[in-house]
Amino acid sequence: MKQKFSVLLMVITAVLVLAACGTKDGGNASNDPGTDGDNKVYMVGTEATFAPFESIDADGNIVGIDVDILQAIADEVGIQVEWRNVGWDAVFSMINNKETDIGASGITITEDRQKTFDFTEPYYESKLLIALPSDSTISSLDELKDKKIAVQINATGHVAAKKLQGEMSKNILAFESQPLAIQEMLNGNADAVIGDNAVVYEYMKANPDKKLKIVEDDAFEREYYGLMVRKGNKELLDKLNEGLQKIKENGKLEEITGSAFWKE
Ligand code: ARG
Repeated sequence: MKQKFSVLLMVITAVLVLAACGTKDGGNASNDPGTDGDNKVYMVGTEATFAPFESIDADGNIVGIDVDILQAIADEVGIQVEWRNVGWDAVFSMINNKETDIGASGITITEDRQKTFDFTEPYYESKLLIALPSDSTISSLDELKDKKIAVQINATGHVAAKKLQGEMSKNILAFESQPLAIQEMLNGNADAVIGDNAVVYEYMKANPDKKLKIVEDDAFEREYYGLMVRKGNKELLDKLNEGLQKIKENGKLEEITGSAFWKE
């Protein structure tokens, strides 16, 4: 009986300690305890095979447009951020687990994602396109109805492929990253890739030896990238939006991305 009681006591203590860890720093387990307020370091999750938005440089650092944008925002509003290359699924799941605070990964703001996450105002306008082996005769999205399409899993290209072929289609091959999807197509395992325009063009520039061609199709709608936070994390969202507004106004965002879509 006594033994049982002390086991129970241990369990209760453990639960209390865990609960305390979980709530400190707004629930960010990866922060040093007691670094609330201005010293708080916000953890950023990304999937860094997505140049020019995020990739790993020769020294192993995460670099790219998203890094520059978030840093510019952080400088404006006086917050600190720390980046982690966690993988595409984890960009989403780790926010919900409170292991990260921000998702910055060329993430398209979609209605579906807005059910689970909050997004900043848009910082980049994007569109899907079709990448094909250079000898392909395909010339429109419509022609992909019964073709094998490679995509990054759960990316908007995946959603577009499912919209075209149906949720259960066996002709959709989903990979961890967009470069992997392209490589699989070049290996002959798929007829086409649906992916984000700027990233496919950057891939072609970086890999001139790979024989690719592009088909753009008006059937794809405009997409907007936003920074993503936990639903209801208004404090952080407000800061990010405040900084974003400032770098829209002072020309910094346009300088980084080469686009000022919000003025159009
Ligand atoms: N914009 C697309 C989406 O939100 C693809 C983003 C993929 N990002 C990445 N870093 N791999 O679904």
